[in-house]
Amino acid sequence: MIGVCNGRSVSITGLGCYAPERVLGNDELSGMVDTSDEWIRTRTGIRERRIAAAHEATSDLCLPAAEAALADAGVKGSELDLVIVATITADMIFPSTAAILADRLGAERAAAYDLSAGCTGFVYALTQGYGTISAGLARRVLVVGADTLSRVVDWDDRSTCVLFGDGAGAVVLEPVERGGFHAFELGADGAGGMDLYMPAGGSRRPASAETVAAREHYVKMNGREVYKFATRVLVSSAKAVLEVSGKDVGDVDLYVPHQANLRIIEHAAKKLGIEEERVFVNVDRYGNTSSGSIPLALGDARASGRLKDGALVLMTGMGAGLTWGSNVMTWTEGREYEH
Ligand code: UT7
Repeated sequence: MIGVCNGRSVSITGLGCYAPERVLGNDELSGMVDTSDEWIRTRTGIRERRIAAAHEATSDLCLPAAEAALADAGVKGSELDLVIVATITADMIFPSTAAILADRLGAERAAAYDLSAGCTGFVYALTQGYGTISAGLARRVLVVGADTLSRVVDWDDRSTCVLFGDGAGAVVLEPVERGGFHAFELGADGAGGMDLYMPAGGSRRPASAETVAAREHYVKMNGREVYKFATRVLVSSAKAVLEVSGKDVGDVDLYVPHQANLRIIEHAAKKLGIEEERVFVNVDRYGNTSSGSIPLALGDARASGRLKDGALVLMTGMGAGLTWGSNVMTWTEGREYEH
C-alpha cells in the first residue's frame, strides 16, 4: 500500500516515552548465556537494554508514555476519539491492551484496539490514526508502540535474547494547519512469516504442557533471513515513500529507522545516501524494543535537540509478518493550531 496524504493535514502534537528502570548490560548478560560484550557490540551495536519489573505488563509501560504524550499535547484522556496500541506482547490475548489503557486514561469516548504488525506496528498504527482523522472520523488519536519482549524471549537462546528490550512510546495525532504527514508506504510478506514468530499460544497451537515443554511460547527467529529482509526493505520502502511524496533523500533532516541492529541501520543509511549526522540511533541503549523502537527514538531525538519544528522526518520500520512500513512527515512543534 502506498499513498500520498491528500486529505486534511495531520501531525504528531504530543510525544511521550517510558522505558523500565532496570538496565541489563552486555556483561551481565554474558553471565546468563554463552556470549560476550564484544560479540553483541560488534554484531548489533547494542550495549544495554531495559527490562520490565515483575509487576509491569505492556499496559503499565504504555500508561506513563501515554500520559506524557497527552500532557505534551495539552489533551485530556476524555478528549480522545481513538486509542491504538501497536504490540505483539499484549497484557493478555484479550481484552486488548488498548482497551485497558483507554480505561486507565479516562478515555471513555474512545474506540480502542491493538494492532499486530511486529516491529512495524507503530508505523502501521500511525497510518491508521492519520487516515481516521483525515477522513473526519476522529479528531484526537493516541497511538502507542509498546512491547515487553523480555517476557517472550528465550533466556537460554543466545541468538535472540541479546537482541531485545522493553519500552514504550506514545504520540497524540491531531489535525494541524501546516506540516504533518506527507505519505505512507506499507507492506507485508507472509511467506517470510516463519522467519520470526512464536509457535504456540494461538489457535493453531494452543498452550499445553507439551508446548511449554517444547519452549514454543518463545520468539523463534531465523536471524540471517531477517537480516537480509531488513536491509532490503529499509531501503526500498524509504525510496518509495520519498518518491511518492515528491521529496528527495537530500531533503531529509532526520532518518529514524527501526532500531534493531546498528549494522542494518548503517547499511540502509549508506544505500540511501544519508550520512551519519542525519540518522538517529539509540539501539545501543535499548536494544530492539519492537513497536516501542521508533517512538522511543523520536523521544530521544527531540530531547537531544535533533527534532525541530519544520524538520523533514523519514521513519521506516520492519519486523514480524514479515512487515515493513515508512512515512515521511514535517515535524510540528508549537501550539498555533486549535485543539
Ligand atoms: O525487528 C526485527 C528483528 N530481528 C532482527 O532485526 C534481526 C536481524 N538479524 C541480525 O541482526 C543478525 O542476523 C544477528 C545479530 C541476529 C546475528 O548476526 P550474524 O552476524 O548474522 O551472526 P550469525 O547468526 O551468522 O552467527 C555467527 C556466529 C554463529 O557461530 P558459528 O556458527 O559461526 O560458530 C552463532 O552461533 O555467532 C554465534 N552467535 C553468538 N555468539 C556469541 C549467535 N549469537 C551469539 C551470541 N553471542 N549472542
